[in-house]
Parts: sequence; structure tokens; C-alpha cells
Amino acid sequence: MPGKRARVGVIGAGWWSTFAHLPSLSSYPEAELIGLADANPEKAAQAAERFGVPRYFTDHRDLLALNPDVVLIATPHDTHYQLGKDALLAGADVMIEKPMVVDPAHGRELVAIARERALALHVGYPYPYMRHSRLLRNLIESGDLGDILFVSSLFATSVLSFYRGDTAYAGEPEAGAMWAPGTSTYSDPAHGGGQMLTQVTHSSSLLFFLTGLRPADIQAFTGNLDTKVDVWDAVNFRTESGACGSVASTGTVPNTQKVIEEYRIFGSKGHAALDTSKGTLEIFFNDGTIRKETPLKENEFYPMHLTSRQLVDTYLGKSPVHASGDLGLLTVEFLAAAIESARTGQVVHLPGEA
Ligand SMILES: NC(=O)c1ccc[n+]([C@@H]2O[C@H](COP(=O)([O-])OP(=O)(O)OC[C@H]3O[C@@H](n4cnc5c(N)ncnc54)[C@H](O)[C@@H]3O)[C@@H](O)[C@H]2O)c1
Repeated sequence: MPGKRARVGVIGAGWWSTFAHLPSLSSYPEAELIGLADANPEKAAQAAERFGVPRYFTDHRDLLALNPDVVLIATPHDTHYQLGKDALLAGADVMIEKPMVVDPAHGRELVAIARERALALHVGYPYPYMRHSRLLRNLIESGDLGDILFVSSLFATSVLSFYRGDTAYAGEPEAGAMWAPGTSTYSDPAHGGGQMLTQVTHSSSLLFFLTGLRPADIQAFTGNLDTKVDVWDAVNFRTESGACGSVASTGTVPNTQKVIEEYRIFGSKGHAALDTSKGTLEIFFNDGTIRKETPLKENEFYPMHLTSRQLVDTYLGKSPVHASGDLGLLTVEFLAAAIESARTGQVVHLPGEA
């Protein structure tokens, strides 16, 4: 008799769903894919056929009428709030792809609904699932680095063509997805495009996940190049306790070169150097000792298949939420403040935890 399975509904059968989530869920015995919804009827039909999903819809409410136990949302950023709210109000545990939402008020509402209804709310951040991320967070939580004083991250990736509305290369058959992202998903500010909401959401949320820091004052500068959205961003923050951080990012690395994903965390007892693109982690203690963690193996990089499986595992009571709605909300508040600061040239203050 097979073990208990989670009845899974997927909203959004676009680039990322057909590249990461549907392959992951359709090969996961604990997941029973009961249906998917995509506003584009051809995509809905073809993706359902490709991944053996019995029912498909263009309206997500018809999918929710099947009462799925859990719902995964992988649609353009500006649609996450309403789809997330409808799925939670339908009584399902939910995973929303990053960024959780665009507007902090929407984020606070989703976190409150999930809490009131004792539902699990996850965000699709793969980096917190990496072995080095778990190890470094535990080390920091156990106080081995002392008080966290200063952090920095440099996240330099190859996304400029997306911000110019050219997503074709991502849809090439060898790229693995069934099709490319919509040309406006990352290039249109109205859809929540740009480097902050598309990429800085990864690096900033990982810094907060690792350190537990909560930014209070935020100042930022951005550049758009020839696009309608931010392409590079320099964000500085300070916490209530006086720790500071600098979050730097650009989407202009050409596809001919490697991306750069570096994190430095300085505490009162030592510092750490994490590189999620090279798969290295080194800890430098004030007593002069250095700890080099075993580098990541090929299959430990960017575990994009784990975020959807965590949604299923948490529902089945196997393990708790790992990249939570609370982390998603803090990151949304941070990014909204940074975008506001870049627009006004002012330092933006974030109210403390509610
Ligand atoms: N975690 C990661 O590493 C990672 C990587 C890439 C993308 N993403 C995220 O995944 C999400 C989707 O990105 P994508 O590139 O696949 O987008 P996409 O442009 O391919 O759009 C996804 C699909 O959503 C559908 N859609 C739009 N509005 C809808 C609605 N109201 N109801 C149902 N379907 C709707 C579109 O028809 C499209 O097929 C975004 O949040 C993106 O940031 C995450």
C-alpha cells in the first residue's frame, strides 16, 4: 500500500515550472499531481500531457475547486498575491515562487491568512536548501561566529537579455524547459520585472536566512541601462542593533562568462566566505584557525527540485517549512524599501517586527 501522498495543484506552466517544478513533482512518489492551470490554454494542455497531469484549466479557480492539499505558484511576479490568497483561502498549503509578492502589504496579508488557518506558506528560494547554507546557518545560530557585525553579497548574473524582453535562448530545446519565459515577465515594471525582484531577492533572502539579521534603515542606488527596469543595484542597510550590510548585484554578466555569487559574513568571533557558484565555504576564526568545508558536488548546486518537494514533505508532516513566508515577507519589505530609496534618494526606515 503506497504511503500517504499529497494532492498537488500547479498554477503556471511556463518556463520555470516546465524546467524545474513539474519534472520534480512528476517524479516524486509522495506527490500526486491532480491538475494544473495556466492562462495560456495551449501551454496548459501541452504541459499536462508532457507531465501526465490528469486535469488542466485556464482559470486557477477551477483547479482550486478540486481541493488540492498543496498548491505551487510559478507565474509572473505581479500575479503572486491574488493567486496565493485564493489558494490559501481554498485551504491549501502554498509555495509561491520568488519574489513572494511585490507589495509588502500583500505579503503581510498572506502571512496572516496562513497563520490564522494553520497553513504552511513556502517561498521558492533554492539557495537556503544548499548543504553549505544549512551548515553556515546552524553555525551562526549556535553562536560560533559571535554577534554578526557586517555582511556583504555580490550577485552578478546573466539576465540583461530578459530585461530587454529577449528570452528566446531560455526556450531552446537543449535548455530543458518546454518554452521560454514571457517577454514581459522580467522586462516590464508593471509585472514586477528587474534585477531587485528577479535576482536580489535570492541574495538578500539568503543573507537574512543565514544570519537572522533584520534591516531597519535602507539606502539604494540602481541603474537601468537601455531598459525599463533596474539592471544593477547597490543596496546598503543597517539593523536596529547597528550591524550593517551591503547587497550588490548586476544582471550584466555575459553568457560567455561565469556568474559570481559571493557572500561574506563578519562576526565578533570570526568570519565566513560562502560562494554558491563555486560551491565553497570557508570559516576564519579569530583564534587563527580556518575551516574549509567539503566543496559541493555537481548535484548539490542550486537544488531547484527541492523547493516543490518541501511543499509536499511539510504537508505530509515529514519536515518543517525551510524557506518560509516570513523570510519571503522580510525580503519583500527590504526590496520595496530599496526600490523606494533608489527612486527618492532618501534612506527608508522599516518598522520593527509586528
Ligand atoms: N526559484 C528560481 O530559481 C526561479 C528561476 C526562474 C524563475 N523563477 C520564478 O518563477 C516564476 C515564473 O517565472 P517564469 O519565467 O516561468 O514565467 P513565465 O513568463 O514563463 O510565466 C509563467 C506562466 O504563468 C502563466 N500565467 C500568467 N498569469 C497567470 C494567471 N493569472 N493564472 C495562471 N497562469 C498564469 C503564463 O501563461 C505563463 O505560462 C517567477 O516568479 C520567477 O521569478 C524562479
